[in-house]
Amino acid sequence: MVDQIIQSDGLIKEFPMGGFLTRKKDPFAKKRVLDGITFDLPKGLSLALLGPNGSGKTTLLKTLSTIYSPDGGDAQVCGYDLVSEMKEVRKHISFVSPAMDFQKKLTLKQTLDFFVKVTKGDMALAKDFIEELQLDHLWNTKLETFSEGQKAITRLCVGLQKNPAILFADEPTSGIDFRRKQIVLDFLEKQGKERTLVLVDHSPDVVDQLCDKILLISLGGTVQGMVDVTKLQNEFNYMYDIMVIPKDQMSEKEAESIWPRFEMIGGMCRFFAGTRAEAVDIHNKIIEWGKFIDFKTSGISIEDITLMWLAKHEKEQEEKLVEERKKIKQAEQLKQAKRNRRRK
Ligand SMILES: Nc1ncnc2c1ncn2[C@@H]1O[C@H](COP(=O)(O)OP(=O)(O)OP(=O)(O)O)[C@@H](O)[C@H]1O
Ligand SMILES: [Mg+2]
Repeated sequence: MVDQIIQSDGLIKEFPMGGFLTRKKDPFAKKRVLDGITFDLPKGLSLALLGPNGSGKTTLLKTLSTIYSPDGGDAQVCGYDLVSEMKEVRKHISFVSPAMDFQKKLTLKQTLDFFVKVTKGDMALAKDFIEELQLDHLWNTKLETFSEGQKAITRLCVGLQKNPAILFADEPTSGIDFRRKQIVLDFLEKQGKERTLVLVDHSPDVVDQLCDKILLISLGGTVQGMVDVTKLQNEFNYMYDIMVIPKDQMSEKEAESIWPRFEMIGGMCRFFAGTRAEAVDIHNKIIEWGKFIDFKTSGISIEDITLMWLAKHEKEQEEKLVEERKKIKQAEQLKQAKRNRRRK
């Protein structure tokens, strides 16, 4: 059996709705934000959480990092139970979020000294990271003068100095400039299989470089599916999407003559381009064809591609789900049979 670094089995998280909102009804009413999150992450792989705003990605990260306690379900993180072995889980993980603030009057060195001491971390790891990111000139500078990008790097450093088996990071590269972002990605990638990353990040380059799997979460906090990043790249190797509104109707033959990769959607035609040059080529051919009211080009988000992959493989996913449910049922029946035997 493959060893799992995270096993989440029906995790539920609820928040109070706030008395004033529900005074006339139920003052104790709760809103369910995670509604039975189930997935496994094998050891040595990294995961990206994707989903629309408010779908519960940050809440899931915080729940798996023991910041929030779950209201239902079970989870094992690094082989320890999330609730009954919370202290053990905490020893093996770090959580990094843009909401994490520091003592403004402390210098970078004093801040890292503090975290190394309380988490029994490794100052050499912190120094490595700061030097690689070329921030060592700020060693004795107070954090109150740090830019957003410099604070984001400091947060990551605080997470990494602990040498965690899993680094849970909420939008870790936001605010970091393009050049430094690439250094951060290369640094995290270099650590490869030693460290599992569980990230919330919408940029395709971060997911491409650092993650092996994507967990897509829908509004309401349910798992829509889990996808392998390489499978996604192999099947949907395109970056631009050009939507054409034709004057009358565009035949499949006409579409094919413009570009072979297209999809007809309710009288409109959507072309897919892998590169900028291909997108320009498609533009020119559409203009040459000329029978359009309008056309629009947009960059494809990683969420879009994941959704398309899931739609294409819906049947496969459903069969997998039925198979998993069958296994769970069989395991339950086996447990029940054992209990019955013991009673006898
Ligand atoms: N502490 C809290 N108390 C009450 N409701 C909360 C709390 N934290 C989050 N929520 C609610 O839970 C839902 C999920 O929030 P969460 O921050 O996890 O979403 P998200 O997927 O991370 O969104 P985003 O992409 O905007 O960061 C939202 O409706 C939010 O309002
Ligand atoms: Mg969030």
